[in-house]
Amino acid sequence: MAKLHLGVLGSGAGSNMQSIVDAIDAGKLDADIRIVLADVEDAKILDRAKRHGIPCQYLDCAPWKTKLEGPAEDRCIELLRSAGVDTVVLAGFMRIVKPGLLAAFPNRVVNIHPAILPAFPGVHSWTQALDYGCKVAGVTVHFVDAGTDSGPIIVQKTVPVMEDDTPESLHARIQVQEHVAYPEALNVIASGMYRIEGRRVRIGR
Ligand code: GAR
Repeated sequence: MAKLHLGVLGSGAGSNMQSIVDAIDAGKLDADIRIVLADVEDAKILDRAKRHGIPCQYLDCAPWKTKLEGPAEDRCIELLRSAGVDTVVLAGFMRIVKPGLLAAFPNRVVNIHPAILPAFPGVHSWTQALDYGCKVAGVTVHFVDAGTDSGPIIVQKTVPVMEDDTPESLHARIQVQEHVAYPEALNVIASGMYRIEGRRVRIGR
């Protein structure tokens, strides 16, 4: 077991970051959050971080709208490193991360995606699942590789799709499981008892 030093990147409400804070506070995850960075200036994740006394700041990623690259990527790596981060947690970070960040934290960048990958990568995955007529949906926590939502899977959880679901109600049900899945996946990493073999994350001794 090794205490994790997390750097969280987000764009939105920060409920996943909150689930990690709650797991740490409850003694269920041996970690601390060293820094929170958001690519949206007024993102609620920054307010949440401030409320918990976690260092946080806005990261201007211009001129790109959908990726973290160039000077913004350099700045991000510098901020994470100087905060002593060893594991980068993408928590609703709505940008593609590039090889620079992945090389700075090899096999130590994780993402949460609101679908049972490899189904429905990209955005609004819960709407994609509903439109496709799926009877189950869910969440995946995975290591990040050079593709989009494509790295080795650490944890997945499913939820049923109900007859009267709207995109909002289905996303809300998925989010309940997200908040279980992220601390669980980080606990796997903290345990050190896993190995990545190709696409598979083998968990256990
Ligand atoms: C979550 O549902 C997360 O799975 C999703 O954004 C939401 C962020 O919520 N991420 C993606 O769609 C990434 N492709 P949060 O800000 O409350 O954690």
